[in-house]
Amino acid sequence: MGETLVVRGGRQLYGVAETPAAKNSVLPLLAASLLCDGVVRLHRVPRLSDVENSLAILRSVGCTARWTGRDVVIRPGGGLNGLLPDGPVGNMRASVLFAAPLLARTGRVETGMPGGCKLGPRPIDIHLDGLVHMGAAVKWGQQHLVLEAPRGLHGADYTLRYPSVGATESLLLAAATARGTSVLRGAACEPEIVDLAAFLTGCGADISGAGSPVIRVSGVGRLAGTEFSPIPDRIVASTLACAVASAGGEAVIRRCDPFAFAPLLAALKQAGCGVDLSAQNEVTVRRRGALCGIGRVFTGVYPGFATDAAPLLAAALLCAGGESSIEDTVFEHRFSCAAGFAAMGAAVQAQGRTLTIRPCGGLHGTTVTSPDLRGGAALAIAALAAAEPTRIENAATIARGYEDLPALLRRLGARAGWE
Ligand code: UD1
Repeated sequence: MGETLVVRGGRQLYGVAETPAAKNSVLPLLAASLLCDGVVRLHRVPRLSDVENSLAILRSVGCTARWTGRDVVIRPGGGLNGLLPDGPVGNMRASVLFAAPLLARTGRVETGMPGGCKLGPRPIDIHLDGLVHMGAAVKWGQQHLVLEAPRGLHGADYTLRYPSVGATESLLLAAATARGTSVLRGAACEPEIVDLAAFLTGCGADISGAGSPVIRVSGVGRLAGTEFSPIPDRIVASTLACAVASAGGEAVIRRCDPFAFAPLLAALKQAGCGVDLSAQNEVTVRRRGALCGIGRVFTGVYPGFATDAAPLLAAALLCAGGESSIEDTVFEHRFSCAAGFAAMGAAVQAQGRTLTIRPCGGLHGTTVTSPDLRGGAALAIAALAAAEPTRIENAATIARGYEDLPALLRRLGARAGWE
């Protein structure tokens, strides 16, 4: 796979595409495997750079982690070490999820700061504050953070000041084997939290309320291994739906949960797309004529409009006949892709957390730079509406969350590839 993604647009999309397992579910599940005494097998895991990065973290702390066909198999090591490796940790935000389970297992964790998409400030204060309430001591060094809990973690009644997805996952992981009962209030309600709780329960954890703002966890001494199929990726499904909205045509998106990305489907419907829940776990999206603007849209925590889908929807609306504006209430800099949209001829303006999209005279191909994972995918979606080739540089950012985005689009007849 090269670093540059080339899309030759101007062709409508038709066909059937399947949604892979959700990256945002797989990464916490890989972190959760640290808590297990037995073997963990995750089914149909997409080969993403974030997944490879997570496997590198697991190997570095003492686990065996390998691919078996499309599954990933993790065997816990005899003696885990609490030193999280700087390189993989700095590559992605989700590396922070490995700290809590490793602390539970080893009593001491040393880690650099997590990296990931530059979407604005991404503090980890809620992760750390929650862990402190569960008995951890946090020490900041020059480059590293040290977490200590030599006598183990204990349950706590803790209220998150914001329903952070990652912090809810960290604290759920910490609580699963802590001494006593934990109550997490103000927890995130995303489907990936429910999936993590289902996995942990399958390993023997005692959890209720996942998917609601109050999660109760009775800590158990040890967790066993399990086999598990993670939920489908609602952001990849959103990407496919927006690709059809941008290019025109009709596609069936299989193996997805349409209710998990209902706000995105509602926005596309409002813009003039046809959206049919044709069968269980699939949705058909079609666009025949021009789209219209949809006014104001706000992202929010689940079940609101997903922040990750905001640039994807924006890309689909660039050629609409009326105005739309999308405000991301979750991250400060969600619309770094606006510069690429503008270079392609879109009439967009990013101001603060809001992207405004006005009607334009059509898009043209050019060379643009992927600013981040979803911003890069959004540029590819926009490029489907331009007749000339669009070269998207820095496209390794896209491979963090899509196994092979051009191949996925080609399944619907798009002309797209790596260079
Ligand atoms: C996860 C997803 C990401 C998605 C995001 C919001 C994964 C691997 N990534 O990221 O794709 O865009 O949820 O749905 O699942 N915050 C704090 N302090 C904290 C933690 C978060 O202030 O300790 C803030 C963040 O700065 C941000 C907001 O909370 O403004 C949301 O972040 P969070 O829900 O934690 O997102 P992630 O778990 O990083």
